[in-house]
Amino acid sequence: MADEITLSVIKADIGGYVGHSAIHPALIERAQEQLDIAQRRGTIMDFHVAYCGDDLQLIMTHQAGVDSSAIHGLAWQVFESCTEVARDLKLYGAGQDLLADAFSGNVRGMGPGVAEMAFRERTSEPVLIFMADKTAAGAWNMPLYRMFADPFNTAGLVISPTLHEGFRFEVHDVKGHKRITFDAPEEIYDLLVFIGATGRYAIKNVYSKSTGEIGAASSTERLSLIAGKYVGKDDPVCIVRSQGIFPAVGEVLEPFTMPHIVEGWMRGSHYGPLMPVSLRDAHPSRFDGPPRVVCLGFQLADGRLIGPRDMFDDPGFDEARHLCNVVSDHLRRHGPFEPHRLPADEMEYTTLPEVMRKLEGRWETL
Ligand code: F6R
Ligand code: MG
Ligand code: MG
Repeated sequence: MADEITLSVIKADIGGYVGHSAIHPALIERAQEQLDIAQRRGTIMDFHVAYCGDDLQLIMTHQAGVDSSAIHGLAWQVFESCTEVARDLKLYGAGQDLLADAFSGNVRGMGPGVAEMAFRERTSEPVLIFMADKTAAGAWNMPLYRMFADPFNTAGLVISPTLHEGFRFEVHDVKGHKRITFDAPEEIYDLLVFIGATGRYAIKNVYSKSTGEIGAASSTERLSLIAGKYVGKDDPVCIVRSQGIFPAVGEVLEPFTMPHIVEGWMRGSHYGPLMPVSLRDAHPSRFDGPPRVVCLGFQLADGRLIGPRDMFDDPGFDEARHLCNVVSDHLRRHGPFEPHRLPADEMEYTTLPEVMRKLEGRWETL
């Protein structure tokens, strides 16, 4: 099709069932009803409502472009409507991520997480949507690096002429509110200096160097920086286009066979391995975790979302899941000690500052 379509994934935790472990089906139903109305009115072309843990995910296609106030306003209204359901059922933390009292043009900075991209649909357009729970923005840095810059992960970087030129990474400094771009493979050492520090630098977008087309977009909102205190974890999302000039589906999924350690888990204050799971297992309960990631695959057809396919519903990821449990056991045995618990400066937005303030007067100078 000639015109650009926009794929938007907007998510929020607006109430958990039970505790912070999952979503109640009534929230999904309410969101589906609301988006169905929006589709019939022509605001959106198609939609799919998904979940990961206690986060509600609105996957939408439309032609309003990224950062559209109509689309963001629709998502906000859906979250508000679902919050009413959550309040009625007294679900846990109803309305948790709606940090602003009223919508003001764009959900960025108001609590929900957003990943969006606009592009001309190719003859065939496979897209993969990653959704995580009990972890923070920055969790995508390592997998995105592996997909788009690591030849040991993505064979196409070496042997496919369409990928050989490499990719351009747009990195955001989420604390300094700045951005920079790096070309891979030429600048991978410089790139890694920053994206290795996942709490501060996050890969926002990835572009094909040969065509300039967008290949990946992630949500980089840090809830604690917006709220000034701990109000729940970011639980980020990420969209990746696949095949042709982009990594193949299997190359996009391969990084998740190594369950990397991310921040989050219990009370957003612990390191733990990111477990790739099917939707059926996207309900973190052990110590409120371990952190989960699901991946839904779609074929786009003139803006229609054909799917989803539950991509981690594959025994090929069994060993990764097993390893996650082994690593989880080992980390859990550290209890309140680092490196299971986050270091103090990473916990500045939790209860730690209060405890420190309370005990201020009891410290004696040595
Ligand atoms: C982590 C998370 C949970 C809660 C924990 C305590 O992102 O959501 O681990 O932090 O269950 O929750 P509250 O303080 O609401 O009782
Ligand atoms: Mg929650
Ligand atoms: Mg969550």
